[in-house]
Amino acid sequence: MHLKDPKIVAALPHLGVLLRQRTCLAELTSLGIGGTTDLLSITKYEAIAELLNLLDAQDVPHKFLGGGSNLLVGDGELPWVVLQLASPELDIVLEGNFAQVDAAADLGRTVTFCAKNDLGGMEGLIGVPGTVGGALRMNAGAYGMQIGSYVRQVKLYRAATRKMETLEGDQISFEYRHTSFAADDMMLAVKLELPSKPYREILKGIRICNEKRRASQPLGQKSAGCIFKNPPGASAGRMIDELGLKGLNVGGARVSDRHANFFVNSGKASAKDMLQLIADVRERVEKSFGVILEHEVVVWNA
Ligand code: EPU
Repeated sequence: MHLKDPKIVAALPHLGVLLRQRTCLAELTSLGIGGTTDLLSITKYEAIAELLNLLDAQDVPHKFLGGGSNLLVGDGELPWVVLQLASPELDIVLEGNFAQVDAAADLGRTVTFCAKNDLGGMEGLIGVPGTVGGALRMNAGAYGMQIGSYVRQVKLYRAATRKMETLEGDQISFEYRHTSFAADDMMLAVKLELPSKPYREILKGIRICNEKRRASQPLGQKSAGCIFKNPPGASAGRMIDELGLKGLNVGGARVSDRHANFFVNSGKASAKDMLQLIADVRERVEKSFGVILEHEVVVWNA
């Protein structure tokens, strides 16, 4: 969608919004798939409400983009604009065992920055691409830990009330790859409480997780991580593997040879290819195991 309304375009600089016209989302997603639309980069959180009011008044649909690492975006000209928080220079501030982190901060950088300051707990998240806001929204986790365990406070913009709100940790529920945030809540910042640990010890844990990940996941390839959630008590990757589906492809979309729950863009995959592959695999798993797999990847296809 291309913003043409002169009223909106003229107002953006005053709201601290940088307009990047006709941005190709394939370049902003780890899958390397996605069409084009205008991207609005937000530098002033205080102006978010005014920005959204302006867009709504002119009937401009929008979506919030985090780090684009768990996302499958549709092809072609997209029917909505995308809002993204610009990362401030100082995105992590430490105070004792607390880390105040901006939602736009890179997750891996946050884990290592805290580690260097003797704050651990998040070792498992090393190697998980994306922003802290994205990790928070879906309660990212790996190797026995999840980010929600360390969340003490979240600052967010609530589209439903059109207000910035601060939630305490116990007002939010964090479950397996699921949280109580609404789909249109926009994460702004989080306060984490992390256990003290010597850097050297944290580094050991980080190295172990890195090794495990390198051995089992297709890290150098374009993917969105795991495509499906694990059903209770089972592994989606193992089920897909048992059906012999590694290497199955639709156009440039392919089930990874290394981990069957990772679908990679092995060439010029379109969203259509990837969605077809997801549907085919889902159908085969249902037929053979009677299990309906739920998407873990977020799909923006309309
Ligand atoms: N397995 C196979 N074949 C495969 C893949 C896995 O047989 O192709 C088997 C493994 O041998 C193992 C079991 O399935 O016995 C589980 O596999 P793995 O340890 O790789 O974990 P996972 O359940 O597939 C989950 C998360 C990952 C996270 C890892 C490590 C989900 C959907 N996936 O994968 O998270 O990195 O554990 O903790 O919960 C993500 O969320 O995008 C993601 C990659």
